Parts: sequence; C-alpha cells; structure tokens
Amino acid sequence: MTNTFEFANKTYCLNYNYNMPEGPILPINQFVVVGSKKSIMLDTGAHLMAGDTIAALSKVMNPQDLDYIFLTHMDMDHVGGLHEILKLAPKARVVGNTTVMGKGLSMYNIDPTRFAAVFPGQEIDLGDKVLRVEESLLEDGHTSWLFETKTRTYFTSDGFGSIQFGQSLPYVDLVPESAYAGGFAMWQSMNFHMLPRYDMVKFRDMINYMRRMGVEQIASVHGPVIRQDTMQIFDLMEGVPGAEVPPHPPLPAMFHL
Ligand SMILES: [Fe+2]
Ligand SMILES: [Fe+2]
Repeated sequence: MTNTFEFANKTYCLNYNYNMPEGPILPINQFVVVGSKKSIMLDTGAHLMAGDTIAALSKVMNPQDLDYIFLTHMDMDHVGGLHEILKLAPKARVVGNTTVMGKGLSMYNIDPTRFAAVFPGQEIDLGDKVLRVEESLLEDGHTSWLFETKTRTYFTSDGFGSIQFGQSLPYVDLVPESAYAGGFAMWQSMNFHMLPRYDMVKFRDMINYMRRMGVEQIASVHGPVIRQDTMQIFDLMEGVPGAEVPPHPPLPAMFHL
C-alpha cells in the first residue's frame, strides 16, 4: 500500500515500502508538486505497484490534470508505473534528460510526441513554483535531480536514500539517529560503491556546492523525507566514503546457491 503525505506546500510524497527478502525496508517514493499553473510527478514507481501508485496519485490530484511526469533515470523502480499512469493522464508530457530520452524511446516505448528533453539549469515553471533541473551530483550521468526554488526542496533520486529497519517512517527526524546513519551508509555504499575511490577534494567540493544551495528539505526516492537539519545530512554524506557500513543481513536459505 502506498501512503501519501504533504511535506511542503502542495508538495506530496507517495510512499511505498518494499520489504527486502533479508528483512530491512526500502522506501520507493514518488513525489507530486502542484503549482498554480502546472503540476508534476517525479518518478512513477515499480510496475508491480502501478495500481497502488495511481490510487495514491488520485488522492492528491486528478491524474487527468497532470502536466508533467519527470523521470530521474530509467531504472525499473522509477519508471515501472509510467505507461499505466499515462493512460490516465492524457495531457501529461514525459520529461527527462537525453539519456532518459534515449533509453525511454528505444527500450521503454515512450511515445516521442509526448517527450520533452531537459538539461541542467533549465527551469520547469509550475506558476508559483519553479523546479530547476540539477545534475545528480552523486549518481552517474544518466540521472537528473530537481530543486524547487520556493519550498527549497532538493528532489534526489537514488542519492540520499536510507534503508529502514523494523518500520519505515515518513521523516528522518522520527528515525533514531544511529539506525538512520547505518541505513544511510548501507544504501549509499550499495548504490555508489565507487565513493571511497573518489578524489576526496572534489567530493567535498560537490558537498559544499549542495551546502550553499540553501536546501531546506531533501526528498529522496529511497528514504524518509529530510525536513530539517539538512546540513547534518550533508555532513553524513561527506562521511560516507569512510563510514562503517552495518553488515548486510543474511539472506534466507532459499536464496543460497
Ligand atoms: Fe537507480
Ligand atoms: Fe532506485
């Protein structure tokens, strides 16, 4: 079941929690921002949960009114619900970077007449809110992030996620600090295992760029919403290359070779 909550002005999280076979929980979020003139959905969840995603989307707006569906990248947990949602959102255009365009048109059957390509720095105008397309500073070049300049929300994709233990909570400040830090280190190291091999000076420059953006909230597809103390989260990210990663929980026997 996908839960919905509004974490900033007309800015909604559609949150689905995937129970990993080895125990922990992986949030798979989508986000909806409704502006005075236009509305946008960021990512579409996995194919298997498309019905749930549509039910959640319908709770926060009529899908018929949706103007844009922004795809951060073409992984199946981000694009799986696209075709089902498009059927109910006749005027929505699919928006993404040129890699999303290439993969989407060639392998995911996105109708080219419904696609618009965007580039870092470009703005998506919703009326009273504006989303700026951002390079995904931690993920590879095939992913884009967004920054909303009014609520100062940084919409990331796989980056800034955190695996949850026991239960998944909507906001980071509700999660015990050490459990969050452990799940955060685990998720970044699973996804971005090259981080310890980065040039640390450049890595810190990148984190410092994010520190200067005036981010008030971070909304990751794979973690609770960070609604306060974003500077602490940037500190946590800066520490990831040297962080102790909790041991991966053992897999059930059925998955053993
Ligand atoms: Fe991904
Ligand atoms: Fe993902």
